[in-house]
Amino acid sequence: MKKILVTGGCGFIGSNFIRLQLDAYPDVEIVNVDALTYAGNPENLADIDSDSRYRFEKGDIADPDFIEDLLATSNVDAVVNFAAESHVDRSILDSGPFVQTNIVGTQVMLDAARKVGVERYLQVSTDEVYGTLGKEGFFTEETPLAPNSPYSASKAAADMLVRSYFHTHKFPVIITRCSNNYGPYQFPEKLIPLFISNALNDQSLPVYGKGDNVRDWIHVMDHARGVDAALRKGVPGEVYNFGGHGELQNLELTKKLLDALDKPHSLIKYVEDRAGHDFRYAIDTAKAERELGWAPQVDFETGLRDTIDWYLGNPVWVERVKSGAYRDYYETQYGNRLGAEA
Ligand code: NAD
Ligand code: DAU
Repeated sequence: MKKILVTGGCGFIGSNFIRLQLDAYPDVEIVNVDALTYAGNPENLADIDSDSRYRFEKGDIADPDFIEDLLATSNVDAVVNFAAESHVDRSILDSGPFVQTNIVGTQVMLDAARKVGVERYLQVSTDEVYGTLGKEGFFTEETPLAPNSPYSASKAAADMLVRSYFHTHKFPVIITRCSNNYGPYQFPEKLIPLFISNALNDQSLPVYGKGDNVRDWIHVMDHARGVDAALRKGVPGEVYNFGGHGELQNLELTKKLLDALDKPHSLIKYVEDRAGHDFRYAIDTAKAERELGWAPQVDFETGLRDTIDWYLGNPVWVERVKSGAYRDYYETQYGNRLGAEA
């Protein structure tokens, strides 16, 4: 698999995946298509910009003319579709862009990739399509889809389209579903980078509800290695789940972050819960371990420390992505919850 079209490569996980490909495979070539929405930041790949194996194309995955033309002229062996609207809270405020990019965009990518006949089409999905768990149990690849947010509903709809192209057209698709990622280059709207950034500025950390919701945290490089393994060793038509065996209640995580930053727990502020808030996610990774030879490698304590150090070492990156439109979003999302502080 020499030439790969990656979509959404200027985002958090896509940029880490592209760096992994270029580091691990000397003869790989990457074409990165990204619309550069608020979450897309070319600075995430500034270090590889001049690598002759890398090419950037600005464009929208939901634009059929652009995508068809790009695939017709790029001669790629595989497509990895990371591009998405990815934040649950934004999908509650406005689900329109989620339907457009996550569903229509996936349909456009599938049709264009099928037309040129790529060897593999990998859809990067999420464990949120399975809905929510109670205190016990784990999501497996057999868990029925039961999405609860507009974000996860749009990802589940995309997964259904991808699945149908395998059954109907025998198109060689693979779906991966991962739990909550953390690591460098994550946009500070998601829990970990938002709370690091707020704590560093002595601002409140808005914990939704009682803070007892549980997420299974996985380092972004473990996710990137999983996508790589699924792309190269996965069986068409199959789904592979990835998780970090890193379950934590949000409140426990928040306290860990404050302790690591040497900031007081009094910065914690309990705010109105997220509408439809899924209680718990946890992943059974047995299939990926058995069939792909994959396992998470980064232990949470080390990964969190490295992530905090990365944010401490990159204040300019943080300030730049938080400028402009991010300020409006912060006010809309947290204005009522935090009052004048937001
Ligand atoms: P992100 O929001 O950081 O990045 C998304 C990228 O997609 C951005 O660069 C953005 O500019 C681009 N994009 C958005 N709309 C586009 C469009 N119409 N055309 C082209 N590019 C567009 O997201 P992320 O956290 O890196 O997530 C990447 C993928 O992984 C998503 O599909 C997400 O559903 C999935 N995922 C994320 C997590 C997580 O914890 N972040 C976990 C599991 C799965
Ligand atoms: O599970 C995979 C999913 O993980 C991905 O598909 C999504 O793209 C990604 O955004 C993430 O979704 P979550 O909604 O779980 O992540 P988020 O960081 O937004 O929230 C994590 C938990 O923290 C969740 O229980 C909500 C809570 N939270 C979040 C924010 C932003 C708060 O308590 N306060 C906050 O301000």
